[in-house]
Amino acid sequence: MISSKDPEKCPVTDKPEFAFVGRSNVGKSSLINMLTGFKNLAKTSTEPGKTRLINHFNINDEWFLVDLPGYGYAKALRTERGKWLIFIQKYLLFRQNLQCVMVLIDARHEPLAIDLEFMNWLGENQVPFAMVFTKSDKLTKNHLSANIEKYKAEMLKSWEFLPSLFISSSETGAGRDDMLDFIEDVTKGKPA
Ligand code: GTP
Ligand code: MG
Repeated sequence: MISSKDPEKCPVTDKPEFAFVGRSNVGKSSLINMLTGFKNLAKTSTEPGKTRLINHFNINDEWFLVDLPGYGYAKALRTERGKWLIFIQKYLLFRQNLQCVMVLIDARHEPLAIDLEFMNWLGENQVPFAMVFTKSDKLTKNHLSANIEKYKAEMLKSWEFLPSLFISSSETGAGRDDMLDFIEDVTKGKPA
């Protein structure tokens, strides 16, 4: 629908909105393309930091999918990261129709401080979120469940309950039905 440079100038809509965010290169744009079934809807690249705007996608006039810029790629300067936080907070804290933030986590890694800190920040600010483990095709089942268990254990150090959790692959389409069902349930006000 539109790409916004300024979080305060995002389109005014009355539709529920789901934002996709995570470390740069985690596979956000690929996941968006996989979920929507359009190969080139969100631009993907092997170079981190491609998505710099807040991108609103209108899905069947029913809900909005929002592609947010990634955080914390290795080469980013500290000042860049600070700017990202200020930018993204404006959206995450004040967006009225935001239903849930889908936090993308690269399934290949052990828990990363930057992801845990971001989720803790969401929780502290009462922004609803779900965890999506991406690129699950890149590791074995055992490795995948070991990594997810470690994340759960880390989260349970700070929180009593775990958020909804999805395992996805943009290559195989894994997780697509589960995520779309979840989005539909939240949109229709069913408890997640
Ligand atoms: P930025 O917009 O730069 O923050 O990146 P992004 O999070 O949107 O990542 P993007 O979708 O552009 O994917 C980054 C790289 O990972 C690309 O080379 C993708 O092909 C690859 N990739 C993304 N998802 C998957 C997946 O599920 N499986 C595999 N094997 N590769 C993936
Ligand atoms: Mg992207």
